[in-house]
Amino acid sequence: MSSTREKLIALLSRHSNTFVSGQWLSEQLIVSRTAVWKQIKQLEEDGYRFESIPNKGYRLIHQPDKVSENTIYWGLPTEWLGKQIEHYQMIDSTQTLALKRAQEGCEQGLVIISDKQTAGKGRRMREWDSNNDDGIWLSFVLRPNLIPAQAPQLTLLTATVLVKVIEAITELKPKIKWPNDLLIDQKKVAGILTQAQGEHDHIHYAVIGIGLNVNQINFQLTEMQTYQATSLKIETNQTFSKTELIQLFLSHFESLYQIYLTEGFAPIKQKWLESAYRLGEQLCFKVNGVEKTGIFVDLSDDGCLIVEDDQQKREKLYSADINW
Ligand code: BTN
Repeated sequence: MSSTREKLIALLSRHSNTFVSGQWLSEQLIVSRTAVWKQIKQLEEDGYRFESIPNKGYRLIHQPDKVSENTIYWGLPTEWLGKQIEHYQMIDSTQTLALKRAQEGCEQGLVIISDKQTAGKGRRMREWDSNNDDGIWLSFVLRPNLIPAQAPQLTLLTATVLVKVIEAITELKPKIKWPNDLLIDQKKVAGILTQAQGEHDHIHYAVIGIGLNVNQINFQLTEMQTYQATSLKIETNQTFSKTELIQLFLSHFESLYQIYLTEGFAPIKQKWLESAYRLGEQLCFKVNGVEKTGIFVDLSDDGCLIVEDDQQKREKLYSADINW
């Protein structure tokens, strides 16, 4: 962040619960009061709205729906998640950058967002189609006190948060397809990528990346793609504010993560099962090359899917060998 305009927006966003005087702003920005006034007029032309009272100053009351560090920060009710944000118009992958920042020692809660990604990554080295600014492409850094075997729980937790966000703003009832897909009517609306780094008994950091299709109106099926995609807009015919969705996601995530840290995985598992795709149905899967069938009955504490055969013998599935 460098220009006077960006610094002014940042100051106004962070003090939006009070009035700030032109004098104070000019001192902070080291520019004249006339320059501050001109910038404010310019912002008004760009869709920003202020309450202004003579002798008291300005208070920011509305920002245009343009994703930026400031618009996300403004009104974000979290304590630590998203208190540091890096926003880009275009980068290769928010996940790659967040992993780099985590490696460099950034604080827990850093969020990296990009309008477009030129090399978005999915699970299993797949590409994630995100070279458009209609979706939410973001990654964030956690430093949980967990062992590596618990890392998959973070993906499950994130999926339940995404369900909650979508249910809060639409009438839709998304389903979570184990382990990391969110479906609406069998079509993929979001994906989660969790990458953790640590030792055998301790995670140093985990980076969670989410890709949520928001305002796309169509999708081109790529050759590699084995699923049909959808967006919130396709499903509802409405356009959504990405800023509000990001804020909602971050605040719901922080709350549920707090519950997870204090009460463990059980309440998360409960919520996850409520939205699980094909729970109670017979699945076909492969273990060590052998084709089997079993009813999807539960989720284990290490985040595995549990199936039961017709002899009531239960088996944990680790990798995605399921023929959904
Ligand atoms: C999947 O379904 O395979 C996971 C997709 C995860 C995509 C997100 S978009 C933001 C972040 N940056 C990436 O490069 N990937 C994740």
